[in-house]
Amino acid sequence: MSLGNTSRGSFGSQLGVILASAGSAVGLGNIWRFPTEVGRGGGAAFILIYLCFIFLLAMPVMISEFIIGRSSRSNAIGAFQKLAPRKPWIVAGMMGVLGGFLVLSFYSVVAGWTLHYTVSSALGQLQGQGKGVDFGQAFNLFVSNPWQPIVYLAVFLLLTHLVVARGIQGGIERYSKLMMPMLLIIIVILVGFSLTMSGAADGVRFLLQPDLSEVTPEVVLGAMGQAFFSLSVGLGCLVTYSSYFSKETRLVKSAMNVCIIDTMVAVLSGFIIFPTVFSVGIAPDAGPGLVFITLPNVFLLTFSEMPIVGYIFALLFYVLLLLAALTSSISMHEICTAFISEHFSKSRRSSAVIVTIICLVLGSFCSLSFGPWKDVTVFGKGFFDLFDFTVTKFLMPLGGLLITLFVGWYLDRKLVEQQLTNDGSIPVRTMKPLLFLIRWVAPIGILVIFLNELFPIFM
Ligand code: PFF
Repeated sequence: MSLGNTSRGSFGSQLGVILASAGSAVGLGNIWRFPTEVGRGGGAAFILIYLCFIFLLAMPVMISEFIIGRSSRSNAIGAFQKLAPRKPWIVAGMMGVLGGFLVLSFYSVVAGWTLHYTVSSALGQLQGQGKGVDFGQAFNLFVSNPWQPIVYLAVFLLLTHLVVARGIQGGIERYSKLMMPMLLIIIVILVGFSLTMSGAADGVRFLLQPDLSEVTPEVVLGAMGQAFFSLSVGLGCLVTYSSYFSKETRLVKSAMNVCIIDTMVAVLSGFIIFPTVFSVGIAPDAGPGLVFITLPNVFLLTFSEMPIVGYIFALLFYVLLLLAALTSSISMHEICTAFISEHFSKSRRSSAVIVTIICLVLGSFCSLSFGPWKDVTVFGKGFFDLFDFTVTKFLMPLGGLLITLFVGWYLDRKLVEQQLTNDGSIPVRTMKPLLFLIRWVAPIGILVIFLNELFPIFM
């Protein structure tokens, strides 16, 4: 098995590997989706289930993706072609690339909204509108506008495109190293802001006290979907990234670091949002509008006395969301760009253009499903919900299942151990439990939860 194909790009440093992978993981999923799911799933109870899924199910998938990517040094589809020629395993790669297009399309819509809110808060519009503004109405008016959100979507996709087109070291690694530290610093500042607000204690309690009565099968399924989405696993995104890892990269340690950073950011985002929300007495389960409707109210209400602080808080929050979205969208774009470039022998630049155009079209469909195409449904869902559902409830769990089965049961055990130990040069004390997770716990866990989704009699 070829371990080195020098004509492909590669990450230049271990820090680059961690920051790029963590950049993929840390995204709207942590700051926008996680608090929404926590709000709906009863706070701490959801977080507990989520943590179990991160370490028992999603991390084994991540390590499996690393093994596949680094041993094949190929894109998500090419990897299965190389490791299992003419075998049906390639379906896992195909689902991943399809998922890459779908996820980038609907994700960029929300990222476009974020860009709009960043611009509005920079111009002081969010905070300066004065009392009596109905942010819910303003949000609905904006997202249902036929063209405005599409312009923001296009600008966001262009930013993503520019990074990916520059390649691995000059684009993805360089910008991850710039954006991730900025993101982490902003989070710490915002947690500080949020915890000093009056009434913040209720929000903290909501995050830390489990209410098990809120746990329903949907909450459990939601927690698994969220764990997979948050760690970017199941679509071959990390197969693609790890195909650029060096021989020295420690796969298990890197995966642990990424899981820890991602979980920290998700929980800290909860600590930014819930104390803030509770401090003004708004219900925490406001759904996806949480960061676009509830928070602007908070920014306005709480800081009407201290305009400068309010201005900075709002601006920093949306910049944080934007940075997070960008480091993740880059990785989704890379799944598709790497595939097109390698499979059709096209240059990175032209492959990136193709991906950007396809996602702009699909993303526009998603955006329109909040406005003029509200009534256009496929299987009873608008395009945005359809893409979200297909990726998070279907492609990711199924992809994760196939990936762990592939590494646990199909791949040569020697190759797996070689990858985990870097050809025997580092001891991996957790090898046995890790293989147990990959072979048994993750596939069975995913299967049970997934089947329950299809035939809800299991729970
Ligand atoms: N992990 C990202 C987030 O939490 O926002 C989302 C994501 C990135 C999903 C990359 C899938 C993917 F391939």
